Amino acid sequence: MENTVETRKKRVLSMIQPTGVFTLGNYLGALRNFVALQDDYECVYALADLHAITVRQEPAAFRKNTLSAYAMMLALGINPEKSIFFIQSQVPEHAQLAWILNCYTQFGELSRMTQFKDKAAKHADNVNAGLFTYPCLMAADILLYNADYVPVGADQKQHLELARNVAERFNGLYSPTFVVPEGLIPKTGARIMSLQDPTKKMSKSDDNTASFITMLDTPDQIIKKFRRAVTDSEACVRYGEGKDGINNLMGIYSSITGKTYAEIEREFDGRGYGDFKTAVGEAVVETLEPIQTRYKALVQDKAYLEKCYSEAAPRAEAIARRTLHKAMKKVGYLPTIR
Ligand code: TYM
Repeated sequence: MENTVETRKKRVLSMIQPTGVFTLGNYLGALRNFVALQDDYECVYALADLHAITVRQEPAAFRKNTLSAYAMMLALGINPEKSIFFIQSQVPEHAQLAWILNCYTQFGELSRMTQFKDKAAKHADNVNAGLFTYPCLMAADILLYNADYVPVGADQKQHLELARNVAERFNGLYSPTFVVPEGLIPKTGARIMSLQDPTKKMSKSDDNTASFITMLDTPDQIIKKFRRAVTDSEACVRYGEGKDGINNLMGIYSSITGKTYAEIEREFDGRGYGDFKTAVGEAVVETLEPIQTRYKALVQDKAYLEKCYSEAAPRAEAIARRTLHKAMKKVGYLPTIR
């Protein structure tokens, strides 16, 4: 039985789309926090595979990516015994609550979502209704679990704000139903930028593979990508305006080593960008190597992965079902007798 509101640990929820190998941006902006939060909170995590089909997926690759993403999350340190770590499409309540929330979200609100505008521009031949109502599904993901905190990178802030607004609107129309969640956005690493165009977010869907680091890049690839990273001509490692490339590398280095910008500036005082880029690359390699080793073993073990996600879905569903039924009752649906 779920603990009462007074005594239960605060709950954390977050998800990630399993559309390809995760990037360093995903890791520093979100995934690293998912792992750390497990010590102090009751954590619910999932692969957002319903969200993933707002962009066309090739079925065999999609299936493979979902399984690989599941293995990667375990390799990162998501503990399937401590946390609930499931696959979104295996818990039907997400789609059910998303439909209801669609009817409590305005066209105008969804039109303002910058991610929708970006993705609609990028996939102009497939601006589907799911892409537009995506934030309602994300709101459902969060609200179903009465999440107190939602760890995300900065790019999800607008979606989170929408989830809060929808929750408040529903609660106001009826009576308190949903917990209004708070975002947990890290101080450093919340917005890792492209290594080739540091005014753009690092993204695995970028056509230029030199612009992002994936969790499975080899040490050689990582060092090369950092050495080729776009910087400026000042040749002075300092954080400042007009230095987007260096600012980004300093953000990555700081986020990994815990060093402040002042400490980094001192460390590389009088040294060129070459030294600094190598140091950032090496720090990333050192962080990713043990994760890659664990990943390689886990991804082979299909039976174990299947056991983990199959056990997680009913645990998630037990929580989600209660919230869904509570919301349905408020709306005026007759009770479901099964
Ligand atoms: P997704 O799959 O695009 O990204 C997963 C997480 O990684 C963060 N992130 C970044 N952080 C820093 N720098 C970057 N360059 C970078 N790129 C991505 C994202 O902010 C995110 O936290 N809609 C969500 C998935 C989702 C979700 C949810 C999240 C579905 N339901 C419920 C939270 C709660 C998404 O597409 O994230």
